[in-house]
Amino acid sequence: VADHSPIGIFDSGVGGLTVFRELTRLLPHESLVYLGDTARVPYGSKSPDTVIRYASACAEILLQRQVKMLVVACNTASAHALEALWDRLDIPVVGVIEPGAQAAVRQSTTGRIGVIGTVGTIGSGVYPQTIRTLLAEAEVFCKACPLFVPLVEEGWTEGPVPQAIAARYLEELLAEQIDTLVLGCTHYPLLSETIGAAVGAGVALVDSAEATALVVQQTLDATDLGADSDQLPFHQFLASDSPQNFAVVAKRFLGYDVADVEWVDF
Ligand code: DGL
Repeated sequence: VADHSPIGIFDSGVGGLTVFRELTRLLPHESLVYLGDTARVPYGSKSPDTVIRYASACAEILLQRQVKMLVVACNTASAHALEALWDRLDIPVVGVIEPGAQAAVRQSTTGRIGVIGTVGTIGSGVYPQTIRTLLAEAEVFCKACPLFVPLVEEGWTEGPVPQAIAARYLEELLAEQIDTLVLGCTHYPLLSETIGAAVGAGVALVDSAEATALVVQQTLDATDLGADSDQLPFHQFLASDSPQNFAVVAKRFLGYDVADVEWVDF
């Protein structure tokens, strides 16, 4: 049996489009509904209770669109709200943290793993906890990099300013001789060249967007929820703030124009 209902994806804003992009590459015949909670972004600086409330509201909107599965394409929302969503929903819910942690453990040879993310994600301690569940002897070094998100949204992903900021943020992780660095925030894949240059060739970068798309594929296979490959899929974009602003920043993430962004009220 094939299920042609869409997969729902949400993020605090546009960052989750890095996950959306990987899903379109890996699962081209799946329909996708993407919700960016742009009216309430950023989640990265908010308390766990607030993020749980926002994430539940996002899930509710997507359920009204009859999604067959939910992807929490936001590290901060995954860090704080994944368990609450698992409890409340009866469709599969995939977050970005476990896939990223798994990829990091596969990648690392020394077990010295760095993680960067928002203040909320790093403060939650979820990454070290998840990585050590997978590899007990791992040593995990974390650093919040709050300036990275506005840099990406501004389109400043290359040049001296992001380079200087990356060097400053990453020096303490480098001092710990990490061999792997998890990009634990949906915006950071757009900075991967700058971050890669700052850490050097000896440190592998883990993009949790790619890893998450793989887990979504595995989940569809395991639950028999995948669409037929002869189906013509649709892509829909919803935003809780200005659709025009969403479209402008979304183009930076996807490299193409997104048409017909729909405004949604919570
Ligand atoms: N999407 C968020 C994350 O991955 C970053 C932006 C925000 O702070 O809301 O953590």
